[in-house]
Amino acid sequence: MLIKHPRESRTVMTELVMPNDTNPLHNLMGGNLMRWMDIAGGICSRRHSGCICVTASVDNVSFDSPIRMGEIVTITAEVTRVFNTSLEVYISVAAEGSDTTKRRPCNYAYFTFVGLDEWGNKLSLPQLQPETEKEQQQFEGALRRREMRLILAGKLKPQEATQLKSLFV
Ligand SMILES: CC(C)(COP(=O)(O)OP(=O)(O)OC[C@H]1O[C@@H](n2cnc3c(N)ncnc32)[C@H](O)[C@@H]1OP(=O)(O)O)[C@@H](O)C(=O)NCCC(=O)NCCS
Repeated sequence: MLIKHPRESRTVMTELVMPNDTNPLHNLMGGNLMRWMDIAGGICSRRHSGCICVTASVDNVSFDSPIRMGEIVTITAEVTRVFNTSLEVYISVAAEGSDTTKRRPCNYAYFTFVGLDEWGNKLSLPQLQPETEKEQQQFEGALRRREMRLILAGKLKPQEATQLKSLFV
């Protein structure tokens, strides 16, 4: 039996840090965390768009707080804005030890995914309507972040970045 489920733009993934995930100091390795963030973002994009989504880019990520072996890691991925064939996902990470009533924010990053059909052709994706004030802020900021990452990727000329320019003019 298939259970009907509405489209979702938010995914929460939970992981337990096992010995094989850690460095010699018994802290979670950055690459493993990036992998989990990428998976959470990929699931979130697919649930929003209903198609295969591949990672196009990851904005800068910093690891501010070490996550220790045995801690529970919560990775929350939220679509912030859909452009055309691509969308931006905000991914935040929090860790908790034995006291599971307290979560420590650890890091966050913006990922961009592109929707493809089964032959690898790009697809137009369903738009997202922000509802809360926080969602509206993320939605508006997404245009500036997009311009910045396209400039860095050499896909947009700085003089064409109208949103970024409006910050200074
Ligand atoms: C991502 C990919 C599909 C983009 O294809 P492309 O033909 O180079 O892309 P285009 O220049 O036509 O852009 C397509 C969309 O991606 C966006 N995009 C392309 N490069 C981007 C980048 N570096 N950062 C953010 N967005 C990017 C474009 O803005 C465009 O979005 P829009 O349609 O919403 O306006 C292609 O490069 C690819 O398949 N990459 C490998 C993906 C992959 O395997 N990821 C896993 C990691 S190995």
